[in-house]
Amino acid sequence: MYNKRKNTMRSSAKKTVCSFRKMKNDGEKIVMLTTYDAPSGRFAEQAGVDILLVGDSLAMTVLGFDNTLPLTLEESLNHCKAVHRGAPNSFIVGDMPFMTFQASESEALKNAARYLKEGGCSAVKIEGGMPIIPLVEKMIISGIPVMGHIGLLPQQVLTAGGYKIAGKTDKDAERLIAEAVALEKAGVFCMVLEGIPAEVSKRITEAVSVPTIGIGAGPECAGQVQVFMDILGMFDGFKPKHAKRYANIAGEIHDALSDYCKEVREKKFPTEEHSF
Ligand code: KIV
Repeated sequence: MYNKRKNTMRSSAKKTVCSFRKMKNDGEKIVMLTTYDAPSGRFAEQAGVDILLVGDSLAMTVLGFDNTLPLTLEESLNHCKAVHRGAPNSFIVGDMPFMTFQASESEALKNAARYLKEGGCSAVKIEGGMPIIPLVEKMIISGIPVMGHIGLLPQQVLTAGGYKIAGKTDKDAERLIAEAVALEKAGVFCMVLEGIPAEVSKRITEAVSVPTIGIGAGPECAGQVQVFMDILGMFDGFKPKHAKRYANIAGEIHDALSDYCKEVREKKFPTEEHSF
């Protein structure tokens, strides 16, 4: 695929779980981005994003909830299908919502399989450390590729009493390293490190051979993931510390919609050009 803006060519062959370990070994950074629908999927595919994550952040960014907990399996699957329609050649990861994998192993396996069978996904992501290791092993034995997610776990927001950076003490850093090693041993093909001090992420990245993909976890991870709306400036006031704004889409939308309202009210739109 030719990337006009960056003037570069990227391979359009669909990636597999093996592609990402090779990228880590070759020192090539992995780019992951959350996408939630056909247009965002299409934009990400056209830009050459390596992994499209249909994050459970969907609950907050698109559905307007205060946290990720209310998202249902059906909602998540519907958005995976939409992303797949917009980005048919991309490696798509479905992020399993709260309580779709915690209650029982058999339910978790059935739910995870739906991402591959119906959602157009190539893998699922599940949040957690030691408690989910047996489940990760079962999923992989069953043929379901799994992306791990450790550090700040948004699905634990209520038990943690907020969104807290993980690994700030030596003991907690050691815990995260042990979790990463256990996840690798269980068979994950890569893992998200969220909200972890850069130095600790570096140690985790060195301790495992599978790629780490960071968000608020410093530059030493094998790749980075960001939330579509955060990096495009789609939320007016709010910008998390881990995000950089590459555009001000909220401003553009605001101006465009104000112009539309004004032109309709002033009878400047539609004109003959827009009429039949
Ligand atoms: O749901 C999400 O957006 C995520 C990323 C923050 C990794 O899990």
